[in-house]
Amino acid sequence: MSNHLESTLEETRQFAPPVEFTKNANIDEHNFKALHQAAEADYEGFWQRLAEQYIDWKQPFTKTLNAEKAPHFSWFEDGQMNASYNCIDRHLEENAEHTAIIFENEQGDIKKYTYKNVHDEVCRLANALNLNNIKTGDRVILYMPMVPQAVFAMQACARIGATHSVVFGGFSAEALKDRIEDCKAKMVITADGSMRGGKLVELKAIVDKALENSEHNVPTVLVLKNANNEVKMQENRDKWWNEEVAGMSNYFSPIAVPSEHPLFILYTSGSTGKPKGIQHSTAGYLLHATLTMKWVMDFKPETDLFWCTADVGWITGHSYVCYGPLSCGGTIMMYEGGPVTPDAGRFWQICETHKVSIFYTAPTAIRALMKAGDQFPNKYDLSSIRLLGTVGEPINPEAWMWYHHTIGKEKIPIIDTWWQTETGASMIAPIPGVINAKPGSCTKPLPGITAMVVDEQGTPITEPNRGGHLVIEKPWPSMLRTVWGNDQRYLDTYWAQFDNRYYVTGDNARIDEDGFVWIMGRSDDVLNVSGHRLGTMEIESAIVAHQSVAEAAIIGTPHDVKGEAILAFVICIDECPKGKKAEQRAKELRQQVTKSIGAIAKPDEIRFVDSLPKTRSGKIMRRLLRTIGKGEKVTQDTSTLENPGIIEKLQTQGH
Ligand code: WT7
Repeated sequence: MSNHLESTLEETRQFAPPVEFTKNANIDEHNFKALHQAAEADYEGFWQRLAEQYIDWKQPFTKTLNAEKAPHFSWFEDGQMNASYNCIDRHLEENAEHTAIIFENEQGDIKKYTYKNVHDEVCRLANALNLNNIKTGDRVILYMPMVPQAVFAMQACARIGATHSVVFGGFSAEALKDRIEDCKAKMVITADGSMRGGKLVELKAIVDKALENSEHNVPTVLVLKNANNEVKMQENRDKWWNEEVAGMSNYFSPIAVPSEHPLFILYTSGSTGKPKGIQHSTAGYLLHATLTMKWVMDFKPETDLFWCTADVGWITGHSYVCYGPLSCGGTIMMYEGGPVTPDAGRFWQICETHKVSIFYTAPTAIRALMKAGDQFPNKYDLSSIRLLGTVGEPINPEAWMWYHHTIGKEKIPIIDTWWQTETGASMIAPIPGVINAKPGSCTKPLPGITAMVVDEQGTPITEPNRGGHLVIEKPWPSMLRTVWGNDQRYLDTYWAQFDNRYYVTGDNARIDEDGFVWIMGRSDDVLNVSGHRLGTMEIESAIVAHQSVAEAAIIGTPHDVKGEAILAFVICIDECPKGKKAEQRAKELRQQVTKSIGAIAKPDEIRFVDSLPKTRSGKIMRRLLRTIGKGEKVTQDTSTLENPGIIEKLQTQGH
């Protein structure tokens, strides 16, 4: 369990929503109660009405929920619609000239797109994709910078009914190759490069490398000119985006797909094996992304400028850059570049320049910017901001208070939103005009979301503050549908633990006496490093792939900016390296991890040891390693250890 438990148990401060905010909020106390009552009185009817209200249907649905094949659930299954139509076309009649995207890059170039512009760009691209043989149901991998064209590409896929899978630009060629092979992509869309922190990220070169070793043949690579970078183009396979869209019609009729059609696959880490392709539906997903924009983000499409700083390579960028805000017809900010380039005032400068009104980021960014000092935010006028949000990991009360005080000037609500790649959109989060905030708590489940905490037997815990497994009892529209190509893994990971009774989140949590949820961290072997989700097994496999390594164990240790840092215990085949030799070996292992996963998974510390603490059945006792990693004295019961003498050794070895 995570280190956040102790600190949060002592946290009792509460912050009521500011009166001004509540007065104009999308959801007030009355609406909030009505929503909860509606969900409790008639669960299916509740979602049915919301789906009718918030989605434009090409063919209306008659059946809301099909649970016949539980734990596989279908929502609105006989309905047909198109996500891109809902995000673009339905706004054209009244709001064609309304700004959809304001974009700024690291060098400070600014570009704005109206809904009409977005429509035209997306249609031209959809026509180009279509001419390159992309059809409904095909998979398209995106390996893109944070530019509007990434959103256009996602929308163009959605328009055709092609399933996109965005791979974060920080993943390596090998990681990209795994994903291309797993979803059997028919096309990869990328760019010549992207500037981040003054450095050029060679996206196209990484795609080349991924495809060079791929067992799966990708017929077309579409390349966006973005960084003035010269790249090698492979004849017949590689095509320039600008050449392909030139002369294309700015009309492409959106193809209506059944509600359950897979809108996208997004790979995420689990406790075992390779990353899994989380498969999302079209209608249910879009519904909840849209709803949470209204309920949780309090989004007012006519007047707000919404900035979610997440990359489109993560689920946050899917739901709160590409789909949610556009489905509402509002304006988003997009920024391509490093958060501290040229300095730690960059985000605040963007907020001032463009008058960002809702700012949504990760605790790791807040902690890093807090460390940089108040002089940065204090230089800028942040008075346009009216709502602050966080997502991705537990926020420590100190960072929360800084956000509240230095950015929010103590006048602005903070929403701490808990959700996952698998849940599609926010699940446990405050309705900002109604619910008090408690620093470090994601507050209460949204209407219609039946989150609870259960013990090892699956019995709901009613006693306040007793930790247990966070589960969701009833299916909800934006839940994942399966793991792409591996349904067994869907059943095993999310349902087996409590005999299909609940969706198992993999998080531990407690609920306090006011019904507020406090996330205590993962219950499985998944790490959260700077808001990035990484599997310990994945990193271990990468290290063991080095010829000198016999065995490796990865654990997370508390880190004041990253949340968790990565500590590796490594046993070498030959003798345990020391001094200069150990430094050299550690360097090689870090390179190995960068190569097979990406720099985001590089261990912060590597300790070479002779053996690892194991149970008699051969399981590594990570619990013990975590204690040792924190530098604390081991007080746990070690009687099940196969090699009890190891503890003392590990406490001194490898430093
Ligand atoms: C895991 C999911 C949600 C989009 C970004 C991360 C942790 C997420 C919170 C929060 C405490 C949080 C959980 C969860 N997490 N939000 N507000 N408070 N923990 O998506 O990569 O799928 O990771 O992030 O541990 O299971 P993800």
